Amino acid sequence: MKRIAVLTGAGVSAESGLGTYRDNGGLWDKYDPMVVASAEGWRRNPGLVLDFYNMQREKLACTEPNSAHLDIAALEKDWQVTVITQNVDNLHERAGSGNVIHLHGEVTKVRPERGRYEESFSESEVIDVGYSRVNLGDKSPKGVQLRPHIVFFGESVPKMEAAAKAVSEADIVLIVGTSLQVYPAASLYMYASPDARIYIIDPAEVPVRDAHIEHIRDKATSGMKTFLSLLGEI
Ligand code: OAD
Repeated sequence: MKRIAVLTGAGVSAESGLGTYRDNGGLWDKYDPMVVASAEGWRRNPGLVLDFYNMQREKLACTEPNSAHLDIAALEKDWQVTVITQNVDNLHERAGSGNVIHLHGEVTKVRPERGRYEESFSESEVIDVGYSRVNLGDKSPKGVQLRPHIVFFGESVPKMEAAAKAVSEADIVLIVGTSLQVYPAASLYMYASPDARIYIIDPAEVPVRDAHIEHIRDKATSGMKTFLSLLGEI
């Protein structure tokens, strides 16, 4: 079976009602990422950081996948699909995608904090809290304060290697709804094989350095329909 790697960003969830980060009126217009989503922010004011992700969990609880998530999941009928998402929501899984790499973590999960060694953790420590609130004073079974299972700014991206491998093995790389501003995620498409076809679905200009990339300049839901018809012609 041929392989597709789908790299998604906030734009794929925009039509579900979740705001993007960098568009006008986006999350980073309202909140300072260095305060609510960075390693430094966590050290300075963990209560504020927990509240920011409590708010995101609450919003996600009443959000549904859209047809772009569903179309990406349906690709699995004919293709071996790896979804590599920068999103911390669970909309790809809820749409039925079975192989999702969360580069920047998952908002429905937490893990014990580790002080100076914050980035090292074992998957077995990760706790699924669903859509519940997590507050200062909420601790792991071993009595350690819980932190969001999110890759904060200033932390490394543990799933990068698996993601790069999936891109390098893909016959088609599809990029949906990401401004490609955040590294290392933004460099992933460069791991594509020279024979791979690369498509982007985004209504805006995206800074890619490859003239062979086909840009479907559209929203995720209608752009996915165009992509599916192009796929039918390959
Ligand atoms: P951005 O907010 O940077 O970019 C969103 C992209 O989605 C832009 O290119 C928009 O043009 C596009 N877009 C908007 N509406 C769309 C729609 N309906 N359909 C398709 N595309 C649409 O979000 P990301 O690139 O995902 O990290 O941001 C990357 C990372 O920065 C996030 O994972 C997050 C953030 O800081 C962390 O929190 C660690």
